[in-house]
Amino acid sequence: MTQQTIRKAVIPAAGFGTRFLPASKATPKEMLPLVDKPLIQYGVEEAVAAGCTDIIIVTGRGKTTMEDHFDRSPELEAALEARGKTHLLELVRSIATLANISYVRQPEALGLGHAVLMAKQLVGNEPFAVLLPDDIVHAQPGCLAQMVGAFAETQATILGTEVVEGEAISLYGCLDCTPHPANTRLLAVHNLVEKPSPEQAPSQNAIIGRYILTPRIFAMIEQLTPGAGGELQLTDAIRALLKHEKVFGFQYTGQRYDAGDKLGFLQATVDFALQHDEVGPAFRKWLQTQQF
Ligand code: UTP
Repeated sequence: MTQQTIRKAVIPAAGFGTRFLPASKATPKEMLPLVDKPLIQYGVEEAVAAGCTDIIIVTGRGKTTMEDHFDRSPELEAALEARGKTHLLELVRSIATLANISYVRQPEALGLGHAVLMAKQLVGNEPFAVLLPDDIVHAQPGCLAQMVGAFAETQATILGTEVVEGEAISLYGCLDCTPHPANTRLLAVHNLVEKPSPEQAPSQNAIIGRYILTPRIFAMIEQLTPGAGGELQLTDAIRALLKHEKVFGFQYTGQRYDAGDKLGFLQATVDFALQHDEVGPAFRKWLQTQQF
């Protein structure tokens, strides 16, 4: 069998972002900046660093600023050039050449599974990655690159996972799994439960917003009926996939932030600000003068 690689990444960005209202009312949550870069750009860069050349962003109404962000900007570029701001000019131009980015609309926010299904034609018949742009993972190498490394071994669906404490498991998709005999970072998945109560959770292994999926997932989503929250849940489709194929969990290394949530966003902001070349040292100094 020929070895398959991951060339395409789907980034669903058509949700309402209700946890971030009112900021997300007219501005896509995915465009909120962590220091000076919108959340979605971190996702695109992580996918590119993992070897993806084609990025498919799932958008919806009121989300066109994302397309503008990744496009050329002739007026701005001309103004920066005229002012001799070469560094900024290069920065702005580089965003438009990050990857081959396509857009597909999700007419209604019917759930993550449904958002992924919108990319079916553009993905075609090959394994692909999914990155949720509000899950920011600070890691070197990036979380998706780590997973692509594991995919070279498994050639099967891989779900990014982490161990969460106590009741937090009820906020996530949860794995019923056992350790992989040969790879300490892989878990053999036997079942999945979306947002279980802490008593019903089969483990503390939570699914995070990074997936490598085989194309059979599309047929599984097409057969779904609405699940938790009345949405077409990707977790339910992956459970159906288990009847046909192996599925693995992958314990990545790195620090994840749920930047779709106000507290997680603030924590990510502090982490990224402290490491930022331009403002990091001054920000650290300022923090040290503060009494909490
Ligand atoms: P979230 O559940 O974090 O996003 O989905 P949300 O629904 O926009 O946010 P809240 O919970 O109301 O605050 C993870 C990602 O999946 C996308 C979202 O845009 C987000 O980037 N998504 C979610 C879709 O594209 N379509 C959907 O129907 C649901």
